Amino acid sequence: MELSKAILTRRSVRSFRQGNIPDDMIRELIKAAVYAPSAGNCQPWHFYVVKDSGIRKRVYEEACGQEFLTDAPVLIIVCIDRSESASRYGERGKTLYNIQNTAAAVQNILLSATDMGLGSCWCGDFDERSLQEILQMDSRRVPVAIVAVGYAGFEPSAPKRKPIDEVTAFIGEWEACSGEETSEAGKIEHCDMGGTVFHDVNLYRVEISDVNLAEGKIFDCNLSNLEIYDCRLDGMKVNGMDINNLLQSASERYQP
Ligand SMILES: Cc1cc2nc3c(=O)[nH]c(=O)nc-3n(C[C@H](O)[C@H](O)[C@H](O)COP(=O)(O)O)c2cc1C
Repeated sequence: MELSKAILTRRSVRSFRQGNIPDDMIRELIKAAVYAPSAGNCQPWHFYVVKDSGIRKRVYEEACGQEFLTDAPVLIIVCIDRSESASRYGERGKTLYNIQNTAAAVQNILLSATDMGLGSCWCGDFDERSLQEILQMDSRRVPVAIVAVGYAGFEPSAPKRKPIDEVTAFIGEWEACSGEETSEAGKIEHCDMGGTVFHDVNLYRVEISDVNLAEGKIFDCNLSNLEIYDCRLDGMKVNGMDINNLLQSASERYQP
Protein backbone atom coordinates (compact mmCIF):
# COMPACT_ATOMS: atom_id res chain seq x y z
CA MET A 1 0.00 0.00 0.00
CA GLU A 2 1.19 3.52 -0.77
CA LEU A 3 2.18 5.37 2.38
CA SER A 4 -0.18 8.24 1.51
CA LYS A 5 -3.04 5.78 1.20
CA ALA A 6 -2.24 4.24 4.57
CA ILE A 7 -2.15 7.70 6.13
CA LEU A 8 -5.48 8.73 4.62
CA THR A 9 -7.35 5.49 5.14
CA ARG A 10 -6.16 4.58 8.66
CA ARG A 11 -9.08 4.82 11.03
CA SER A 12 -9.60 4.19 14.72
CA VAL A 13 -11.38 0.85 14.61
CA ARG A 14 -13.45 -0.04 17.65
CA SER A 15 -15.19 -3.17 16.42
CA PHE A 16 -13.29 -6.34 15.62
CA ARG A 17 -14.09 -9.67 14.00
CA GLN A 18 -12.90 -12.76 15.78
CA GLY A 19 -9.91 -14.22 14.03
CA ASN A 20 -6.39 -15.12 14.94
CA ILE A 21 -3.63 -12.77 13.85
CA PRO A 22 -0.51 -14.71 12.89
CA ASP A 23 2.43 -14.05 15.21
CA ASP A 24 4.55 -12.99 12.24
CA MET A 25 2.18 -10.13 11.58
CA ILE A 26 2.38 -9.01 15.19
CA ARG A 27 6.16 -9.13 15.02
CA GLU A 28 6.00 -6.97 11.88
CA LEU A 29 4.01 -4.40 13.85
CA ILE A 30 6.61 -4.34 16.60
CA LYS A 31 9.35 -4.07 14.00
CA ALA A 32 7.59 -1.02 12.55
CA ALA A 33 7.44 0.43 16.08
CA VAL A 34 11.15 0.03 16.78
CA TYR A 35 12.02 1.69 13.48
CA ALA A 36 10.43 4.90 14.73
CA PRO A 37 12.81 7.75 15.46
CA SER A 38 13.85 8.36 19.07
CA ALA A 39 15.88 11.16 20.60
CA GLY A 40 19.55 10.17 20.46
CA ASN A 41 18.33 6.78 19.22
CA CYS A 42 17.93 5.75 22.84
CA GLN A 43 14.79 3.69 22.00
CA PRO A 44 13.25 4.09 25.43
CA TRP A 45 10.27 1.82 24.85
CA HIS A 46 9.00 -1.60 25.74
CA PHE A 47 6.02 -3.47 24.32
CA TYR A 48 3.70 -5.95 26.02
CA VAL A 49 1.74 -7.97 23.49
CA VAL A 50 -1.38 -9.58 24.92
CA LYS A 51 -3.40 -12.27 23.16
CA ASP A 52 -4.77 -14.02 26.24
CA SER A 53 -8.50 -13.32 26.48
CA GLY A 54 -8.51 -13.43 30.30
CA ILE A 55 -5.85 -10.73 30.50
CA ARG A 56 -7.60 -8.64 27.84
CA LYS A 57 -10.77 -8.85 29.91
CA ARG A 58 -8.91 -7.67 33.00
CA VAL A 59 -7.39 -4.79 31.04
CA TYR A 60 -10.92 -3.80 30.05
CA GLU A 61 -12.46 -4.28 33.50
CA GLU A 62 -9.72 -3.01 35.79
CA ALA A 63 -7.75 -0.56 33.71
CA CYS A 64 -9.68 0.81 30.83
CA GLY A 65 -13.43 0.20 30.63
CA GLN A 66 -13.49 0.42 26.86
CA GLU A 67 -15.29 -2.69 25.72
CA PHE A 68 -13.73 -3.07 22.32
CA LEU A 69 -10.49 -4.04 24.07
CA THR A 70 -12.04 -7.43 24.77
CA ASP A 71 -13.07 -7.88 21.10
CA ALA A 72 -9.64 -7.05 19.72
CA PRO A 73 -7.63 -10.28 19.51
CA VAL A 74 -4.37 -8.46 20.26
CA LEU A 75 -3.47 -5.59 22.56
CA ILE A 76 -0.08 -3.95 22.30
CA ILE A 77 0.77 -1.98 25.41
CA VAL A 78 3.40 0.59 24.60
CA CYS A 79 5.53 1.63 27.57
CA ILE A 80 8.19 4.18 28.27
CA ASP A 81 11.29 2.69 29.80
CA ARG A 82 12.25 5.41 32.25
CA SER A 83 15.78 4.21 32.77
CA GLU A 84 16.72 4.67 29.12
CA SER A 85 16.13 8.35 28.46
CA ALA A 86 16.21 10.52 31.55
CA SER A 87 19.88 9.82 32.15
CA ARG A 88 20.77 11.35 28.80
CA TYR A 89 18.41 14.28 28.42
CA GLY A 90 17.32 15.02 31.98
CA GLU A 91 13.91 16.55 32.57
CA ARG A 92 13.29 17.23 28.85
CA GLY A 93 14.00 13.60 28.07
CA LYS A 94 11.71 12.45 30.85
CA THR A 95 8.71 14.66 30.21
CA LEU A 96 8.86 15.48 26.50
CA TYR A 97 11.08 13.18 24.46
CA ASN A 98 9.74 10.05 26.11
CA ILE A 99 6.20 10.87 25.06
CA GLN A 100 7.31 11.86 21.55
CA ASN A 101 9.41 8.72 21.11
CA THR A 102 6.62 6.39 22.08
CA ALA A 103 4.00 8.36 20.10
CA ALA A 104 6.11 7.90 16.97
CA ALA A 105 6.30 4.16 17.69
CA VAL A 106 2.53 3.96 18.15
CA GLN A 107 1.87 5.76 14.87
CA ASN A 108 4.18 3.33 13.06
CA ILE A 109 2.16 0.44 14.51
CA LEU A 110 -1.13 1.99 13.37
CA LEU A 111 0.09 2.68 9.84
CA SER A 112 1.64 -0.77 9.48
CA ALA A 113 -1.58 -2.35 10.69
CA THR A 114 -3.48 -0.44 8.00
CA ASP A 115 -0.92 -1.55 5.44
CA MET A 116 -1.48 -5.19 6.46
CA GLY A 117 -5.26 -4.90 6.25
CA LEU A 118 -5.69 -4.82 10.03
CA GLY A 119 -7.79 -2.40 12.05
CA SER A 120 -6.37 -0.71 15.11
CA CYS A 121 -7.18 1.87 17.74
CA TRP A 122 -4.94 3.96 19.96
CA CYS A 123 -6.28 4.06 23.54
CA GLY A 124 -4.88 6.54 26.00
CA ASP A 125 -7.60 6.45 28.62
CA PHE A 126 -6.58 3.85 31.20
CA ASP A 127 -5.32 3.50 34.72
CA GLU A 128 -1.55 3.13 34.60
CA ARG A 129 -1.20 1.49 38.01
CA SER A 130 -3.81 -1.18 37.27
CA LEU A 131 -2.22 -1.93 33.93
CA GLN A 132 1.22 -2.18 35.54
CA GLU A 133 -0.21 -4.62 38.05
CA ILE A 134 -2.12 -6.76 35.55
CA LEU A 135 0.96 -7.15 33.37
CA GLN A 136 3.33 -7.35 36.35
CA MET A 137 5.52 -4.70 34.85
CA ASP A 138 8.93 -3.75 36.03
CA SER A 139 8.50 -0.49 37.98
CA ARG A 140 10.70 1.45 35.57
CA ARG A 141 8.13 0.92 32.81
CA VAL A 142 5.20 3.30 32.37
CA PRO A 143 2.41 2.38 29.97
CA VAL A 144 1.50 5.28 27.66
CA ALA A 145 -0.79 3.65 25.10
CA ILE A 146 -2.81 0.55 24.49
CA VAL A 147 -3.10 -0.31 20.80
CA ALA A 148 -5.98 -2.64 20.00
CA VAL A 149 -5.37 -4.66 16.85
CA GLY A 150 -7.53 -7.05 14.84
CA TYR A 151 -9.54 -7.51 11.69
CA ALA A 152 -12.05 -4.68 11.52
CA GLY A 153 -15.67 -5.67 12.08
CA PHE A 154 -16.77 -2.20 11.20
CA GLU A 155 -14.67 0.37 9.39
CA PRO A 156 -15.67 3.87 10.47
CA SER A 157 -15.66 6.78 8.06
CA ALA A 158 -13.09 9.52 8.47
CA PRO A 159 -13.87 12.01 11.20
CA LYS A 160 -13.60 15.56 9.86
CA ARG A 161 -10.23 17.21 9.86
CA LYS A 162 -9.69 20.91 10.35
CA PRO A 163 -8.70 22.61 7.10
CA ILE A 164 -4.96 22.86 6.56
CA ASP A 165 -5.09 26.66 6.41
CA GLU A 166 -6.76 26.78 9.79
CA VAL A 167 -4.04 24.80 11.52
CA THR A 168 -1.01 26.13 9.66
CA ALA A 169 0.86 29.43 9.64
CA PHE A 170 2.71 29.59 6.33
CA ILE A 171 5.67 31.86 7.03
CA GLY A 172 7.31 33.83 4.22
CA GLU A 173 6.22 33.84 0.59
CA TRP A 174 4.07 30.99 -0.59
CA GLU A 175 2.65 30.14 -3.97
CA ALA A 176 -1.10 30.07 -4.34
CA CYS A 177 -2.43 26.75 -3.18
CA SER A 178 -2.83 24.12 -5.83
CA GLY A 179 -2.96 20.87 -3.87
CA GLU A 180 -6.06 18.72 -3.60
CA GLU A 181 -6.72 19.68 -0.01
CA THR A 182 -6.97 23.37 -0.82
CA SER A 183 -8.82 23.22 -4.10
CA GLU A 184 -12.38 24.45 -4.39
CA ALA A 185 -14.78 21.96 -2.95
CA GLY A 186 -16.68 20.04 -5.61
CA LYS A 187 -20.46 19.80 -5.62
CA ILE A 188 -22.80 17.15 -6.93
CA GLU A 189 -26.45 18.12 -6.58
CA HIS A 190 -30.00 17.58 -7.82
CA CYS A 191 -29.42 14.50 -9.96
CA ASP A 192 -30.09 10.81 -10.27
CA MET A 193 -26.95 8.71 -9.76
CA GLY A 194 -28.67 5.53 -8.58
CA GLY A 195 -26.33 2.54 -8.79
CA THR A 196 -23.23 4.66 -9.43
CA VAL A 197 -19.89 3.16 -8.39
CA PHE A 198 -17.16 5.55 -7.20
CA HIS A 199 -13.85 3.70 -7.23
CA ASP A 200 -10.51 5.30 -6.30
CA VAL A 201 -11.94 8.80 -6.62
CA ASN A 202 -10.76 11.83 -4.67
CA LEU A 203 -13.93 13.01 -2.94
CA TYR A 204 -12.07 15.35 -0.60
CA ARG A 205 -14.45 18.16 0.55
CA VAL A 206 -17.02 17.20 -2.08
CA GLU A 207 -20.62 18.10 -1.17
CA ILE A 208 -23.31 15.78 -2.44
CA SER A 209 -26.87 17.00 -1.94
CA ASP A 210 -30.29 16.05 -3.26
CA VAL A 211 -28.86 13.15 -5.25
CA ASN A 212 -30.24 9.66 -5.71
CA LEU A 213 -27.32 7.42 -4.66
CA ALA A 214 -29.46 4.34 -3.96
CA GLU A 215 -27.73 1.00 -4.55
CA GLY A 216 -24.47 2.85 -5.27
CA LYS A 217 -21.00 1.90 -4.08
CA ILE A 218 -18.01 3.91 -2.90
CA PHE A 219 -14.75 2.12 -2.40
CA ASP A 220 -11.08 3.02 -2.07
CA CYS A 221 -11.93 6.73 -2.26
CA ASN A 222 -10.55 9.69 -0.32
CA LEU A 223 -13.58 10.52 1.82
CA SER A 224 -11.97 13.19 4.02
CA ASN A 225 -14.45 15.99 4.65
CA LEU A 226 -16.98 14.53 2.21
CA GLU A 227 -20.46 15.84 2.93
CA ILE A 228 -23.64 14.03 1.95
CA TYR A 229 -27.06 15.43 2.75
CA ASP A 230 -30.67 15.14 1.59
CA CYS A 231 -29.75 12.16 -0.59
CA ARG A 232 -31.41 8.81 -1.24
CA LEU A 233 -29.03 6.29 0.27
CA ASP A 234 -30.93 3.00 0.45
CA GLY A 235 -28.69 0.08 -0.37
CA MET A 236 -25.63 2.35 -0.67
CA LYS A 237 -22.36 0.77 0.48
CA VAL A 238 -19.03 2.37 1.45
CA ASN A 239 -16.12 -0.07 1.42
CA GLY A 240 -18.67 -2.87 1.72
CA MET A 241 -20.46 -1.30 4.72
CA ASP A 242 -23.99 0.03 4.75
CA ILE A 243 -23.74 3.83 4.60
CA ASN A 244 -26.53 4.33 7.13
CA ASN A 245 -24.53 2.43 9.75
CA LEU A 246 -21.48 4.53 9.00
CA LEU A 247 -23.39 7.80 9.23
CA GLN A 248 -25.06 6.75 12.45
CA SER A 249 -21.78 5.86 14.11
CA ALA A 250 -20.21 9.12 12.87
CA SER A 251 -23.09 11.19 14.27
CA GLU A 252 -22.89 9.34 17.61
CA ARG A 253 -19.22 10.19 17.82
CA TYR A 254 -19.92 13.87 17.17
CA GLN A 255 -22.57 14.33 19.82
CA PRO A 256 -21.44 17.19 22.00
C1 LIG B 1 -3.28 10.11 22.48
C2 LIG B 1 -4.54 9.45 21.95
C3 LIG B 1 -5.38 8.84 22.83
C4 LIG B 1 -6.55 8.22 22.35
N1 LIG B 1 -7.34 7.54 23.24
C5 LIG B 1 -8.44 6.90 22.79
C6 LIG B 1 -9.22 6.14 23.70
O1 LIG B 1 -8.92 6.03 24.88
N2 LIG B 1 -10.30 5.51 23.20
C7 LIG B 1 -10.65 5.58 21.88
O2 LIG B 1 -11.66 4.96 21.51
N3 LIG B 1 -9.92 6.29 20.98
C8 LIG B 1 -8.83 6.95 21.42
N4 LIG B 1 -8.03 7.63 20.52
C9 LIG B 1 -8.40 7.66 19.09
C10 LIG B 1 -9.01 9.00 18.70
O3 LIG B 1 -10.31 9.11 19.23
C11 LIG B 1 -9.05 9.08 17.14
O4 LIG B 1 -7.71 9.04 16.67
C12 LIG B 1 -9.69 10.36 16.64
O5 LIG B 1 -11.06 10.39 16.98
C13 LIG B 1 -9.57 10.52 15.12
O6 LIG B 1 -10.13 9.38 14.45
P1 LIG B 1 -9.24 8.49 13.46
O7 LIG B 1 -8.14 7.87 14.27
O8 LIG B 1 -10.19 7.46 12.89
O9 LIG B 1 -8.70 9.38 12.39
C14 LIG B 1 -6.88 8.25 20.96
C15 LIG B 1 -5.99 8.87 20.09
C16 LIG B 1 -4.83 9.46 20.57
C17 LIG B 1 -3.87 10.07 19.58
